[in-house]
Amino acid sequence: MPEKKEILRVKGEIKETYGKISKIYATLEGKFEKRLRERGVEYLDIQKGETVLEIGFGTGITLVEIAKSVGETGKAYGIDVTPEMVELARRRLEMEGLGRRVELSEGDARNMPYEDNMFNAVYMAAVLELFDTPDIPKVLKEIKRVLKSDGRLVVVSIPKEDHENSIVLRLYEWAHRKFPKYASCRPIYVEDSLRDAGYNLIRTDEMLMAKLFPMKIVVAKS
Ligand SMILES: C[S@@+](CC[C@H](N)C(=O)[O-])C[C@H]1O[C@@H](n2cnc3c(N)ncnc32)[C@H](O)[C@@H]1O
Repeated sequence: MPEKKEILRVKGEIKETYGKISKIYATLEGKFEKRLRERGVEYLDIQKGETVLEIGFGTGITLVEIAKSVGETGKAYGIDVTPEMVELARRRLEMEGLGRRVELSEGDARNMPYEDNMFNAVYMAAVLELFDTPDIPKVLKEIKRVLKSDGRLVVVSIPKEDHENSIVLRLYEWAHRKFPKYASCRPIYVEDSLRDAGYNLIRTDEMLMAKLFPMKIVVAKS
């Protein structure tokens, strides 16, 4: 009999958590996530003139790279549910002189304000594992709706697959159970979630974040 693949459920209000930690997040992300971010954007393979969406953009650090990559003829979009993050990202993009190339929305990835078949590519890092189990397929379906038929999706996420016995991830799961408000995400079966939602997996890679946490980068096609 195939082994049942369980992941933890999610409790707590994400918006409230990220509203409180938005400034700390802005300080830490530059140090810990740079290589991961660079690899994720490289795998997005953005071409000039494309229309690209980032979901859960946080402080907007990756949106800057996405906006540069689409060039003057392209357009970048970002959606994030936390008002404080939207404000931080707006300021960052304005300082970089990219404000007009990016359209930001404060909104929920489960129900996005975009037309069908709108994007060449979608990027989502450290976000899918924040959704409660029944919401993961909903978000992936919503992304499929807004992606063009041959659109690309890059998901960067904490993997449960191949790491069921990882001490670091078990500690993380413990923290998630104990302090769901702060350790708001948990490892998920990233590849299976994408396959179950009807995506074709093109490439997978793994890196360590902060030399400790395994992070999976999955490139998929709609
Ligand atoms: C861990 S942070 C990741 C930020 C950024 N992607 C990065 O890699 O640094 C998660 C982000 O997802 C956003 N988020 C959480 N739930 C969301 C939802 N339902 N819809 C859109 N964004 C969401 C949070 O506000 C936060 O900015």
